[in-house]
Amino acid sequence: MTTIVYLNGVFLPQEEAQISVMDRGFLFGDGVYEVIPVYDQQPFRLHEHLARLQSSLDGIRLVNPHRVDEWENLIAQVIARTAWKDQGVYLQVTRGTGPRDHAFPAQVKPTVFILPMALTPPSAEAVEKGVNAITATDTRWSRCDLKVTSLLPNVMLRQLSVDADCAETLLLRDGELIEGSVSSVFIVVAGVLRAVPKSNLMLPGITYDVVLELARAAAIEHEIRPVSETELRHADEIWITSSTKEVLAVTRLDGNDVGSGRPGPLFRRMHALYQTYKHSVMRRKAEA
Ligand code: PDD
Repeated sequence: MTTIVYLNGVFLPQEEAQISVMDRGFLFGDGVYEVIPVYDQQPFRLHEHLARLQSSLDGIRLVNPHRVDEWENLIAQVIARTAWKDQGVYLQVTRGTGPRDHAFPAQVKPTVFILPMALTPPSAEAVEKGVNAITATDTRWSRCDLKVTSLLPNVMLRQLSVDADCAETLLLRDGELIEGSVSSVFIVVAGVLRAVPKSNLMLPGITYDVVLELARAAAIEHEIRPVSETELRHADEIWITSSTKEVLAVTRLDGNDVGSGRPGPLFRRMHALYQTYKHSVMRRKAEA
């Protein structure tokens, strides 16, 4: 079935969607994006994703081309044009076209693109057995809190884990854990869940917030403070989280078992809490 995308005011087949070679997204990676999971045709945490989009736009000094209700409407229309019940809606805003000059063009007409993507939840095996990860030095810039399309360092870092037959690369900077190349990271030490505090060096993950909210609601002991490389390497459990992976346990890091080498008890609890929460939100929305 043809994928229908949205590009600058028009819904059209993906093969027919075209942008100018002078688009600053293409020339400079001058744009921002979001990936919004959709379950049973209902976007999950949409307002939070749109709020982060606004921060990213503010961060690159680009005026939001749409109000929240307009975004909601466009996203709903993209979802309505796909057959998938579950999907990931990718949306991207670039600073539009202009002469190839690093400085912003005088008149900016942003390029707005929305692409529905198949959402493949982690396999039962990945949830049951966990996944392997490696570590690498974080080579990104100092505004990793912005979700920008210039992702070359993330691409290179993620590829390191593909080359090592692993699911993710965990990033270390000055002896501290930051996040993954495409995910947020949590550890568990002696039954206590630990999250790295948000900063300019990491993306404020929407799933990161969900996990901490669920931990709070379930009275799971947790703390938000920096995680050293040594603490990471000796953690009882390591989790990665994202809108597309939800919550997954890392059971081998750089070839060594994490804890028992099996997903730990707190992971199992959080995974169940997450699934219950997700389904309850979707049910409430469908009934509304
Ligand atoms: N990435 N950190 C980085 C660097 C990420 O790229 C992502 C997600 C996350 C998790 O954020 P969230 O929980 O809001 O998905 C953390 C998306 C899925 C992507 O780039 O495709």
